[in-house]
Amino acid sequence: MAAPVTAPRLLAMKAEGARIVCLTAYDATTGRLADQAGVDVVLVGDSLGNVVQGHQTTVPVTLEEMAYHVRAVRKSVSRALLVADMPFGSYGSSVAQAVDSAVVLAKAGAEAVKLEGPHIDAVQAIQAIGLPVMGHVGMTPQSVNAFGGFRVQGRGEEGDSVLAAARALDEAGVFSIVLELIPADLAQRITGTVRSATIGIGAGPGCDGEIQVFHDLTGLAERAFKHTKCYLEGGPLMSAALRAYTEDVRARRFPSEENSA
Ligand code: KIV
Repeated sequence: MAAPVTAPRLLAMKAEGARIVCLTAYDATTGRLADQAGVDVVLVGDSLGNVVQGHQTTVPVTLEEMAYHVRAVRKSVSRALLVADMPFGSYGSSVAQAVDSAVVLAKAGAEAVKLEGPHIDAVQAIQAIGLPVMGHVGMTPQSVNAFGGFRVQGRGEEGDSVLAAARALDEAGVFSIVLELIPADLAQRITGTVRSATIGIGAGPGCDGEIQVFHDLTGLAERAFKHTKCYLEGGPLMSAALRAYTEDVRARRFPSEENSA
């Protein structure tokens, strides 16, 4: 079995110029497929609020729900680094709340946690108990209501505050930072400035690695976004398969003798 990926290994990959591949997963099946594909990081993202639970945003996702999904993914991921999102409302009240929430996710099987925005004290306190932290700046979906929608962040002068947030997280010791929906030149500048590994999504080709949502890559999402690439028409293929099953049962073509015990 290939050596498990660790947080320090991602820093080494940045230093070596090796691209870092990250993918979300939400259950034992998607975790197995991601790990078998050889991705370096499996993120149990709070995007499960959208693609699993059917919400419009990630805001409703709870810590208990995240822990449930982390436990499921943990069962099938053996090589990739398993990172869990800290959901909205699980780290913003106090440093103690952030540490307690991170512990819940670590006990469920996460090897690192990700939180959105420059919550520097929380990041340092979580790292102090021995759990690596991934940052997330730019279009941070938990702040969608403050941003007034899902839109590119960091254009023009706004770029300075995204850069400052990334630098602050880097100085606080995060091993990696997700850069979401920011201009490609800003992402490249941040990547060249920070020690930690930058992971882009909608941030152009100049990051140290890339992350995508499982359902977007496999054609299972309801919408296609500009920042994704659909590698499989999974939705239409599955619909056709399920229609064929429905018709076969109604027409008494399935099950047949050969499917019988
Ligand atoms: O929740 C998520 O899936 C994420 C990634 C898209 C970065 O945060």
